[in-house]
Amino acid sequence: MNSNTKSIVIRGIGSSVPQQKLTNKDLSKIVDTDDEWITTRTGIKERRIAGKDLQVSELGRAAAQKALDSAGVKAEEIDLIIVATLSSEMISPATSCIIQEKLGCRAVPSFDLNAACSGFLYSLEVGKSMMLNGEYENALVIGVEKLTSYTDYEDRTTCILFGDGAGAAVLSKTDGEGLGILGCKLGADGGNAPLIQIPAGGSARPASIETVEAREHYLRMNGREVFKVAVRGMAQAATDILEKHGIDPSELKCIVPHQANIRIIEAIAKSLQLSDDRMFVNIQKYGNTSAASIPIALDEAKIERNFKKGDPILLVAFGAGLTWAASVIRWYE
Ligand code: ACO
Repeated sequence: MNSNTKSIVIRGIGSSVPQQKLTNKDLSKIVDTDDEWITTRTGIKERRIAGKDLQVSELGRAAAQKALDSAGVKAEEIDLIIVATLSSEMISPATSCIIQEKLGCRAVPSFDLNAACSGFLYSLEVGKSMMLNGEYENALVIGVEKLTSYTDYEDRTTCILFGDGAGAAVLSKTDGEGLGILGCKLGADGGNAPLIQIPAGGSARPASIETVEAREHYLRMNGREVFKVAVRGMAQAATDILEKHGIDPSELKCIVPHQANIRIIEAIAKSLQLSDDRMFVNIQKYGNTSAASIPIALDEAKIERNFKKGDPILLVAFGAGLTWAASVIRWYE
């Protein structure tokens, strides 16, 4: 082994979700839907709601602190912070800067990355590359969302899907190779951008009476089309990254997919010729938490699936953009 070889490992992980729950029954009192439709079409039973007093910087801070504790790393030892989110606390400054201050980190580089539901995996790849090429020893990668701020509770096709939450990982540089983040396959298709959009609130359509009246500050999605592209994009990215690293799907300890829809998760299992039980699923509890979905699921999967050092694990995501990503890791903790 080359003594100069370095790996970037997930040294600790943590998550934080709001206390307040919104069940399918609650939603059936707001829009024309029912538990049976939501459960069979999505797998979701309930989701967590941050409410007006709990902000993404606090959710992200809490998840990051748990990740630091699990890694045995102090906030002052962090050299880099990346926050994956599409529901940043404000347009500016970046949520990562607010979290940096709340955690008591040094004045280290901190920025937000928006790749929607693929954001956490994009951030792992960016963090890994910066660490291997720079002076960074420990980084925080946080996925956090308050999607309920952008959810239209008059639209039954989308309001049943989304929830709030945060997950975080501490990345550390270690000697040797073969453990940690082995590789990522990232992609995006801007041609399909109109399939998922929040039309107003950006620089093209700043808030006005018209945009508010037209409900343009809420997320709009063509779910049926997204579904098809999601299955294709995730299955292809997963196959590509596994092939590149010479790992057969049957060797995987677990697959932690983005939690968007149980039927999408089952379709990915089928395309990899794996049984559904190889997929980690917690969508019933949280719905789709976008960039927070994978780190929350990973935090729960490591305990429920009893991850051991060296276990091969596949992470795979898909989201607005349209973006997709697959990462293969060997567990380190
Ligand atoms: N309750 C009852 N009926 C409903 C509901 C509801 N909540 N929502 C839609 N319906 C009705 C529709 O009106 C339609 O009725 P019709 O046949 O009379 O027209 C029927 O149910 C079927 O609607 P579809 O939209 O075809 O339902 P589908 O099976 O596609 O499920 C869903 C919709 C759950 C949104 C699915 O398409 C999906 O999960 N898509 C992928 C979403 C996704 O993965 N997004 C990821 C990115 S999100 C991001 O990046 C932030």
